[in-house]
Amino acid sequence: MTQANDAALPLRDTALRYGKITRALHWGLGLLILWQLFGMIVKVTLEKSPTVSAIVSSHQPVGLVIFALVVVRILWALMNRSNRPAHGSGLVGLASRAGHAALYALMALIPFTALIRSWGNQRVFAPFGFEIFPAQEPPVAWAVNVAEWHGEMGWLMLVLILGHIAMVAVHDLAWKDNILRRMAGR
Ligand code: HEM
Repeated sequence: MTQANDAALPLRDTALRYGKITRALHWGLGLLILWQLFGMIVKVTLEKSPTVSAIVSSHQPVGLVIFALVVVRILWALMNRSNRPAHGSGLVGLASRAGHAALYALMALIPFTALIRSWGNQRVFAPFGFEIFPAQEPPVAWAVNVAEWHGEMGWLMLVLILGHIAMVAVHDLAWKDNILRRMAGR
């Protein structure tokens, strides 16, 4: 029964629900982004310790993986743009489109600008133990400055993610239109 239903979920999106690839990207990236934010909350709230350092040291490699997946997600969204569930009409539809556009923009800009800084600063960038960017001597000022708002954009994304979750709850609990099913149900 379950297998038959799983088989019925297509790879691509449809007008009624998101397909397997979109769902894997949505939930996978969601978890990785929450890990990044959790790590930074740990960093700014707890005293330094081996556990805190271990969590914080995952920030750059996980951020690089996020950036690669975001590129795939954007390309996949473009390929599926004509066969996705509708956002609805009126002010609610407009707010939903704007909220999703802002999430996409931050999801791309936050790791992208951080990677540009890692290319342009004086530190070697070797997130997986091998060198991706050498140290720049002297550092490239514009590349370092481009990530000046990295942390602020990250906290803004946390606010938007909480708003995103709250709106799903409003849809499902108050308006009872079962919107979570598009991304999680059969
Ligand atoms: C979606 C992915 C990412 C998220 C959500 C994120 C989030 C954050 C947040 C919220 C902070 C601020 C911590 C504070 O207030 O002190 C921060 C700091 C930092 N992040 Fe990320 N980050 C991401 C990707 C990356 C990547 C790819 C890199 C490196 C290539 C990186 C490098 C850094 C560094 C060096 C800091 C400390 C300096 C600063 O605040 O700019 N991050 N990150």
